[in-house]
Amino acid sequence: MHLGPFEIEHPFILAPMAGITHSPFRRLMRRHRSAVVISELVSATGIEYAGARTLDLLKYHEEERRVGLQIFGEDQEHLVKACQYVERLGADFVDLNMGCPVPKVVKKGAGSAMCRDPMGLSKILHAMVKSVRIPVTIKIRTGWDAQTRNASEIVRVAADAGVKWVAIHGRTRAQGYSGEADWDFIGDIRAKSALPIIGNGDVSTAEDAVKKYRTYGVDAVMIGRGALRNPFLFEQCEAVLKGQEPKRPQISDYIALMHEQRSLLEQTFPARMAMVHARKFLAWYSAGFPGCHEYRRKLFTITDPEVVWSETFEFFERNGRDRSLDFMSQPFLMGGHG
Ligand SMILES: Cc1cc2nc3c(=O)[nH]c(=O)nc-3n(C[C@H](O)[C@H](O)[C@H](O)COP(=O)(O)O)c2cc1C
Repeated sequence: MHLGPFEIEHPFILAPMAGITHSPFRRLMRRHRSAVVISELVSATGIEYAGARTLDLLKYHEEERRVGLQIFGEDQEHLVKACQYVERLGADFVDLNMGCPVPKVVKKGAGSAMCRDPMGLSKILHAMVKSVRIPVTIKIRTGWDAQTRNASEIVRVAADAGVKWVAIHGRTRAQGYSGEADWDFIGDIRAKSALPIIGNGDVSTAEDAVKKYRTYGVDAVMIGRGALRNPFLFEQCEAVLKGQEPKRPQISDYIALMHEQRSLLEQTFPARMAMVHARKFLAWYSAGFPGCHEYRRKLFTITDPEVVWSETFEFFERNGRDRSLDFMSQPFLMGGHG
C-alpha cells in the first residue's frame, strides 16, 4: 500500500504532538507499528537562527524511518531554508504545520492562519516544493471558522504546488479542541481530492480507526491522543485491518513497553529530563487502572528516578489485571499545536 511516494505496511500514523513526539517516543511508536512518524512543529525562523534547542528538536534516529520533520512559520525565505535544512539532515519528508491554533503563532500568519490566504500560501508552497527533492506534505484544519471551511481549496492549492499529501484535523481553528472532528467533511474532501488525504481527530480505538479508514475513503488515519493512553493502538489497528482479533495487552506487555521507553528516554536525554518526560507518559498509561489517582500523586512528588520506576512497576504488577477502558471517551489533552 502507498501513501504518496512511500510504501507503507498499513495506514495508521502517529500524529505530531509538541513535547510528546520527540525522537525516543517516535522510535517506540515505530517499534509498536505506527506506519510513519513526524516530529513536533519546529520554527523555521528558529532554524534560521540555529538555536541549539531548536536544532535538538530536529534530531532523529535511523530506526524512525519513515520519519518526517515538521516546520512552521510565515516567512517564505525561512520556510524554504528550513526545508533545505531538513533535507540535508536526511529526513524522509518535510511537513508544514498549517493547523496550529495558538494565538502567538497565528498572530504572525503562521499555523492555521495560513489557510486564510490561499494565494499567498500557493506562492510559499511552490517555493518550498521547488527547493527540495524530498516530499513536502502539509497538515491543516478544516478551515479558520465555521463560515470559512476552505480545506478543499487548500488541498487544490497544495496539489497544484506539488505537495504530496494533506493531513486534515477535522476541526476549524475556532473550535480549538472542542466539539467533534467532522469526518463527513474530511470524507467529502477525500472524494474530490487529487492528493492523498490523511484523516485525523478523535480516534481512540482500533475498531474506530479501521471503520473511519473504510467509511471515509481516506488514504490513512492519523492518531494522536488515543495512542498516549493506549500505546498498543497501532498494533491493534493493523490486526483489525487484517480481520484479526486485536491483542489485549497483558500487564507484561505494559511493563516491557515501559522498560523499553525508559531506556530510549535515558539514551536521548539527561537523567532529569528523561524523568520529566517519563512521568507524563506513565500518568497517561496508568489511566483506568485501579488506584491510578494515588499512583499519579506519588509519581509527581517522588524525585528519585529509581524510586519512580520501582513504584511504577509495582503499581502495574499490583493493579494491572483489570484496566477499565471507560475513560477513553472522556475529554483529554484539549489543547495543542495542530
Ligand atoms: C499536546 C498536543 C500537541 C500537539 N502538537 C502538534 C504539533 O506539534 N503539530 C501538529 O501538527 N499538531 C499537533 N497537535 C495536534 C495533533 O497532531 C492532532 O491533530 C490532534 O490532537 C487531533 O488528533 P487526536 O484527536 O487523534 O489527538 C497536538 C495535539 C496535542 C494534544
